[in-house]
Amino acid sequence: KMTKFIDELLQKMTLEEKIGQLNMITVGFDVTGPVVSKDVDASIKRGSVGSVLNTFTPQAARKLQEMAVKQTRLHIPLIFGYDVIHGHRTIFPIALGLASSWDLPAMERSARIAAEEASADGINWVYSPMVDIARDPRWGRISEGSGEDPYLGSQIARVMVRGYQGDDLKKNNTVMACVKHFALYGAAEAGRDYNTTDMSLVRMYNEYLPPYKAAVEAGAGSMMSSFNDINGVPATGNKWLMTELLRNQWGFDGFVATDYTAINEMTAHGMGDDAQVSALALNAGIDQDMVGEVFLKNLAQNLKDGTVQQAQIDLACRRILEAKWKLGLFEDPYRYTNEKRAKATMMKKEFVADARDIARKSLVLLKNSNNTLPLKKQGTIALIGPLATRQRDMIGSWSGAGDWKQAVSLEQGIKNAVGSGVKVVTAQGANFTDDEQMIARLNQHGGELNVDQRTSEEMIREAVQVAQQADVIVAAVGESQGMTGEAASRADIGLPGQQLELLKALKKTGKPLVLVLMNGRPLTLPWEDKNADAILETWFAGSQAGNAIADVLFGGYNPAGKLTATFPQHVGQVPLYYNHKMTGRPYQGVALDKYKSRYMDVSNDPLYPFGFGLSYTTFEYSKPELSTTTLAMNGTLEVKVTVKNTGNYDGEEVVQLYTRDMVGSISRPVQELKGFQKIMLKKGESRIVSFRLTPEDLKFYNTDLKFAAEPGDFQVMVGGNSRDVQMAAFKLAAQ
Ligand code: IFM
Repeated sequence: KMTKFIDELLQKMTLEEKIGQLNMITVGFDVTGPVVSKDVDASIKRGSVGSVLNTFTPQAARKLQEMAVKQTRLHIPLIFGYDVIHGHRTIFPIALGLASSWDLPAMERSARIAAEEASADGINWVYSPMVDIARDPRWGRISEGSGEDPYLGSQIARVMVRGYQGDDLKKNNTVMACVKHFALYGAAEAGRDYNTTDMSLVRMYNEYLPPYKAAVEAGAGSMMSSFNDINGVPATGNKWLMTELLRNQWGFDGFVATDYTAINEMTAHGMGDDAQVSALALNAGIDQDMVGEVFLKNLAQNLKDGTVQQAQIDLACRRILEAKWKLGLFEDPYRYTNEKRAKATMMKKEFVADARDIARKSLVLLKNSNNTLPLKKQGTIALIGPLATRQRDMIGSWSGAGDWKQAVSLEQGIKNAVGSGVKVVTAQGANFTDDEQMIARLNQHGGELNVDQRTSEEMIREAVQVAQQADVIVAAVGESQGMTGEAASRADIGLPGQQLELLKALKKTGKPLVLVLMNGRPLTLPWEDKNADAILETWFAGSQAGNAIADVLFGGYNPAGKLTATFPQHVGQVPLYYNHKMTGRPYQGVALDKYKSRYMDVSNDPLYPFGFGLSYTTFEYSKPELSTTTLAMNGTLEVKVTVKNTGNYDGEEVVQLYTRDMVGSISRPVQELKGFQKIMLKKGESRIVSFRLTPEDLKFYNTDLKFAAEPGDFQVMVGGNSRDVQMAAFKLAAQ
């Protein structure tokens, strides 16, 4: 039915109308790239626009939709795309935080709620999930993805696609997902945004591509090209990537959009003038040009010149029309623009309650000496730091439709939790930065920093005075929300500004020092780890941040989050990730071992490893028991481990299973996550947790890019993080 409808429509369309369908303009509430569309109404009415970016609310979307449907010759409706990344109106933790929950149903729920709200707000296409594997915390966009692991990243990609798209895109409460940024954007050299990417095919297939592939298998309706080049050709003009890999090898049948002005940017990459990059992108397999208007201005001439074929334009146009069909827009172009539904849906009570619950699941307890946490609801708390009272940062970057004024600050959250019996005194203590250029940039992009004009000595002095009145110091330190995300790479990933100086002064008071970190990337925290009594990583936790953090600080919720990106000791160790290869000269920690793979001034260890996170209780693991020590090629291996809650609180634990392939035709990682289960154990309770491994789980891409498991010796490791594991061994048999 769809094919027949689109065949007939294509026959009626002029070349200009077909090219118009490939064009996306930006209109309205948000600016998410370096140029802004002009002459919007006239372009839509002319039939030169297929989709619109950055317009939402039923009224605004309806107005443009009416123009397209009523005033163009063929009445083709528009698609409305927007960056709904970690929630739409109800904001959830940034993606790196969501991933730290290791709670797939919770993540799916966050996407479902985002879809409910976005689809009631005029939007039918969202630029999520962002599934770029990232191992370099200097890259600001590490905050937008799931971290460093391809297995976990793939699981998350699947549930997010399902959360957005539901089981039927034709329902008016679902939206089409756009998987981004295809591909390898997270491997930008030196962590500098938009930079070159270069890697071996073996690494690409084994470590970076799996989450994109998983999202395709989950039925994602669209993909977005990345800004970087791959093997020398920018992703947006890379035919191998967009056609051979994505369509021919993976069978993707949705449409591919560029990122913002990515076709134009191929000129700066050195790929030719506008006419050349236009042909390059179309021939590579790109279907939609985001805001750049390169297709609009060049494709007709390209066709005359013979650098593109009519069939390729038709194919791209068909894919856009198919998306419109799948979304039900030809049946009812106004299905996402019902004002009554919008009013009833946004920030519904149950959504906000879920945002609080999901936020607390994302918090990671990094240190807790002498059971400093949970805090007692008594005495005086000194809440100090640039993030102590701020609402603005709570919702993080890419939260365009979120209203930060409705976000709960940490101060408010603590006050809500402790009631009137506890005194809370506050001081800012430090600015995020003294760098005037950075302040100007943050303010320009909506960061609204309130820079205290006093000297840092004066601010610290005041903070110390405030701290001296208290029984405990809660220091809310980290990054402002604009310091991570797009175009927010940092070369130094310690606490910015004078915050470390502030902490050192606070430490001297001798009061218990609890750090509440808010940030969008792994930070280097060596002094903090040594000197703070407790450290809670809270990312940017969303609309309910303050309440969720207070739940954890006062024991209303026992933290269970685990890191999904390694925290290095020093930025010089970057990239540092758990699933690295063995070298020929592995360093075993012997001080005078000279000719080993090591640094002279810092060990190879991370500060906090992948999978790490504490609880208020403790868990004991038994050695893993295997159902067999020889796994047949058609067999299953059961791995059982007994986990016991040995502490004083009920608590959740993420039980993680890793394998190591001891000998391979290519060198294999020292550990690879192959399974995890999040379980709840009552105080004193123990449970047998069981995993099933098959040879399928042991497959990898070899140098011929053949995906196969190789017989031989394996280790299986189980534990509560990637470092503290217990091991057993088995063999994969040849048959
Ligand atoms: O979705 C984003 C992308 O991640 C970065 N460039 C702009 C796009 C649309 O706003």
